[in-house]
Amino acid sequence: MATLTYDCPAKINLVLEVLRRRGDGYHDLASVVLPITLADSLAVRASDDIDCVVHGMALATEANLVVRAAHLLAEAVGATAGARCILTKRIPAAAGLGGGSSDAASALRALNRLWGSGLSRSRLMELGAQLGSDVPFFVHGGPALVQGRGDIVEGLARSPALWLVLVIPGHGLADKTRALFAALEPGDCSDGRRTDTAARLLERTGRVNGLDLVNAFERAARSAFPGLGETWHAAEERIGRPFYLSGAGPALFAFAADEAEARALAARLAGLDAAVYAAQTLPIGPDYATAGRMRYA
Ligand code: C5P
Repeated sequence: MATLTYDCPAKINLVLEVLRRRGDGYHDLASVVLPITLADSLAVRASDDIDCVVHGMALATEANLVVRAAHLLAEAVGATAGARCILTKRIPAAAGLGGGSSDAASALRALNRLWGSGLSRSRLMELGAQLGSDVPFFVHGGPALVQGRGDIVEGLARSPALWLVLVIPGHGLADKTRALFAALEPGDCSDGRRTDTAARLLERTGRVNGLDLVNAFERAARSAFPGLGETWHAAEERIGRPFYLSGAGPALFAFAADEAEARALAARLAGLDAAVYAAQTLPIGPDYATAGRMRYA
């Protein structure tokens, strides 16, 4: 079989509430999550063993979720075939944009097809949850209301294609997601109602205006990432509009009217101590009936 190539889109959390700490060490959350055009790329082809070549980032094999996804799927379906995976990284790592999780989801989908395993999307989501809490969202595909520890994914009937400018400060925080969840205080938690309202409004109006764009990690992220508060403030000063935190951070996003404005805003943000990208939210999920390349309308 030929090479299969899949996009691995990043995501932003438009709204993110943390409800409570659970008995199993995870937290229940509620989030409106939107895939965006900033994407890694994964190509897979048949091979005797499982291996992965990575371009664009130094990534240890043990930390490569593509390799872990491949072994997990092979074990689950008793696959004897291997795969050569070629991962091209563009999404900054550990930023709150879900890059590694998206790579893992694409690996599950691509190898399910390459090996003819025939697992359903919901079974792939279950396997994905073993790799990371964000993986089921990416296996599902498309804009979604995400709940539970990240494993309950409800696709949104409608979500706009919004232009964004992303500001992504670097950081050296080890085990970032765990550390940020551990830093949450009772006052950071809420009941999920604002997320539910945002999801329904987004579906009904197709607009983000008037949505309450809360993120439970804002206080913890400002204290955990040195310099984030300053970069956040400087970014808002430069373009005169609010930035919002994605995931547990430190990635920040602001809205633009169209592509030209997103690119102009990105140019004005150059020189901040952060990576800057213009990107667009993806309104429609992958077409599971389409062979090979994942398509977005
Ligand atoms: O699932 P994932 O491996 O991405 O999570 C990393 C860590 O983040 C978990 O071990 C847990 O400490 C924390 N986490 C959490 N609640 C979630 C997701 C992650 O507490 N819903």
